[in-house]
Amino acid sequence: MDLTLNREEQRMFDGELGEAPRESMEILVALGKIYGAKRMVPITSAQISGVSFKTIGDAGLEYLHDLAKKGAKVRIPTFLNPAGMDEKQWKEMRIPEDFARKQLLVLDAYAKMGIMKTCTCTPYFIGIRPKRGERVAWAESSAVAFCNSVLGARTNREGGPSALAAAICGVTPEYGLHLDENRMAKLLVEVNCPLKTVADFSALGSFVGKIAKTNYPAFTGIGKEAASEEKLKVLGASMAATGSVPLFFVEGITPEWNVSDGAQKVQFGESELKNEKRSLDSAMKPQLVTIGCPHASLKEIREVAELVAKKRPTCEFWVCTARKTKEEADKKGYTRAIESAGGRVVADTCMVVCPLERMGYSVTGTNSGKAAAYLPNLCKQAVAFGDLEDILYR
Ligand code: F3S
Repeated sequence: MDLTLNREEQRMFDGELGEAPRESMEILVALGKIYGAKRMVPITSAQISGVSFKTIGDAGLEYLHDLAKKGAKVRIPTFLNPAGMDEKQWKEMRIPEDFARKQLLVLDAYAKMGIMKTCTCTPYFIGIRPKRGERVAWAESSAVAFCNSVLGARTNREGGPSALAAAICGVTPEYGLHLDENRMAKLLVEVNCPLKTVADFSALGSFVGKIAKTNYPAFTGIGKEAASEEKLKVLGASMAATGSVPLFFVEGITPEWNVSDGAQKVQFGESELKNEKRSLDSAMKPQLVTIGCPHASLKEIREVAELVAKKRPTCEFWVCTARKTKEEADKKGYTRAIESAGGRVVADTCMVVCPLERMGYSVTGTNSGKAAAYLPNLCKQAVAFGDLEDILYR
C-alpha cells in the first residue's frame, strides 16, 4: 500500500495494543487510503463532536459504551464539543428528564475514555490554542475554521468517529489541510462596506459560504479594528454552516495569506449586507434570544451584561458559553447582572444541540449566521435574526 505505517502504528493496526486501537487505526488507514495520504502524522490535541444525545441518539450512545467497555483510552489531550444540556442547570432549562438521563450516559462514556468534558465549540477561549503549523484533529466545523484560519494550526474537518480514532491513536493521516499545497484560496471576496457587529460578520459569512461551497475564501477590505477574534469566529462559523469552509484568509489579519492567481472575485457591499441580513430574519418577535454561537468569550458576556443592565430585554435570553468561561463570568458578576435582567448564562450546550423543540419554544432570536442556518431544520424554530439591540428589544 502507498500509505506507510511506522512500527507503533503497525502494532496498533495488527491489534497488538488492544481492540480499541486496532479498530481506530483501521478507520484512520481507510481514510488515509481514500484521500491518498502517504503517512500518519502525530497530533497534539483532538476535539470530539457527536456529544449531544440529540445528534447521536441511542445508536451513538451504544457505540460509545462499547468502545469504553473495550478499554479505549485517548493518548493525547482530547476535549468535547457542546452536549445537549448544561450539566448543572438542566432542570432549570426545562430539559426533558429522559433526554437528560441519556445525555449523562454519553458524557460518562467519554469521561471513561479519558476525554475532558469541556463541552465547548470555542476551546481557544479556554486556553486550548494550538500554534501556527501545529497539527490537530478537530471536529466541530466552526472550531476547525478558527483553528486553521485564525490560529494557523492545521486540521481537516474531522467527523466524530475519525477525531475519536485519532485521539485513541495519537495520529492522523496526512492529507488535505495538513499539506501546504492545499491551503490556497480560490475565491477573493472584496468587502467594500463597513462591518461593525457580530450580525454583520454573520451575514458576510452566510453570503460567502453559499458561493464558496468547498472553496476557501480570502477577504480584503476588513479593517483590523473591526475584526476581533469574536467576529472572526462568527464569520468562520457562518461560512461553515451555509457552505463547507474549513479555512479562510483575511488580508493583514490571519497568519496565512495564499490566494490563487486565477481566483474568482466577488464583491460584498451595503446592498449585499442589507439583503443577507433581511433574508435570515423572519421579522417575528422571539420568545427566546440565544447569544453565543459559537460559544461566547468572557468579553462578549461582559458586553451583554452591560447592555441588559441598562435596559431589561423584552424576552427570555441565554448566553451560551464554556463552563470555564461561565465560572469566570460568575466571579466577575456578569452572570448575576444577566440573571437580574431575566437571562441565563448557559454552559456545556447551545441553542442548536439542546432539544429546544421539546422545550416550548418556536421563535428563537440569534445574531449568528450558523444558528440562523441550523435552527429551522434541527430545532423547528422560526428565526429572528439581527443585531443584539434589535432582537433583545423587538
Ligand atoms: Fe457552537 Fe452550537 Fe453554534 S456547537 S458553533 S454554539 S451551533
